[in-house]
Amino acid sequence: MKRTEERLPLKEDGAVLEEDQAPLKELDEWDDFVATRYRQGKSEEEFRNYKADANPTVTEFYRQNHKYQTLDFVLKKKAEYCGLKRGKKSIWEMAEYLNTLVDDSDPDTDVTQIEHLLQTAEAIRKDGHPRWFILSGFLHDLGKVLCLYGEPQWAVVGDTFPAGCAYSDQVVFPEFFAANPDSGKPGYQTPYGIYEPHCGLDNVHLSFGHDEYIFRVTQKYLPEEAQYMLRYHSFYAAHRHGAYRYLMNEHDEAMFEWVRKFNPLLERPRAPEHQGNPALLPRARFRVLPGQN
Ligand SMILES: [Fe+2]
Ligand SMILES: [Fe+2]
Repeated sequence: MKRTEERLPLKEDGAVLEEDQAPLKELDEWDDFVATRYRQGKSEEEFRNYKADANPTVTEFYRQNHKYQTLDFVLKKKAEYCGLKRGKKSIWEMAEYLNTLVDDSDPDTDVTQIEHLLQTAEAIRKDGHPRWFILSGFLHDLGKVLCLYGEPQWAVVGDTFPAGCAYSDQVVFPEFFAANPDSGKPGYQTPYGIYEPHCGLDNVHLSFGHDEYIFRVTQKYLPEEAQYMLRYHSFYAAHRHGAYRYLMNEHDEAMFEWVRKFNPLLERPRAPEHQGNPALLPRARFRVLPGQN
């Protein structure tokens, strides 16, 4: 993946770390990992053993994500992107732009990003949900254009988590947080950290990624339920495991019903022979072409 020099993680002497090039062959390797991890019908024991589902590249991806997503980084990225200064596009133009990320490694089995978005929207329509809900399905991954803006994989995808307070062990690979500089800041490592009890998630800075970006881009045009669905769809520790409830207020609790309704519908449809075997899942094509930054 081609990225600009100033966005790359740096060694102390300012040189780019070799191992911090994009570890995932495709961004959707992460989506596949999540789909496997939350596959229905898993036993408690299988569920706890998430490492069995993670291949070395996914593990390396989480190592980077947990190490580099500091509160400072999140605030910097919010300042950079949330002013929405990247120009205007229609939804379809944005989808076509996202589609320029292509992985041609296996063109027979992969689906394009647009196909993935349409399949998601169609699954929601078939399930009988209202039009704004269907639209949210189409929008949910458009924030991955961050990759085309030169962001490293660990700043685009991955389970999101609050920065500036203690890390929950319900976040996958919690041991990797030890390398995050915020771990050494005592003020950040109490349960509430820089936040107040039940201050509401709108006041909490989650690790930066495609959820926050698409939420910001579409916020003015969607009902609040949809805003929550888009903004928190990768906040698995909260919507699947009930972590961080001490930061949520009553309104968040009520709105998370929608996040929980939305998430199972985001899994890619699979043929019966693919059930439970992520290696056989059709995967959305995803690779940054040279010169696209
Ligand atoms: Fe998706
Ligand atoms: Fe997503």
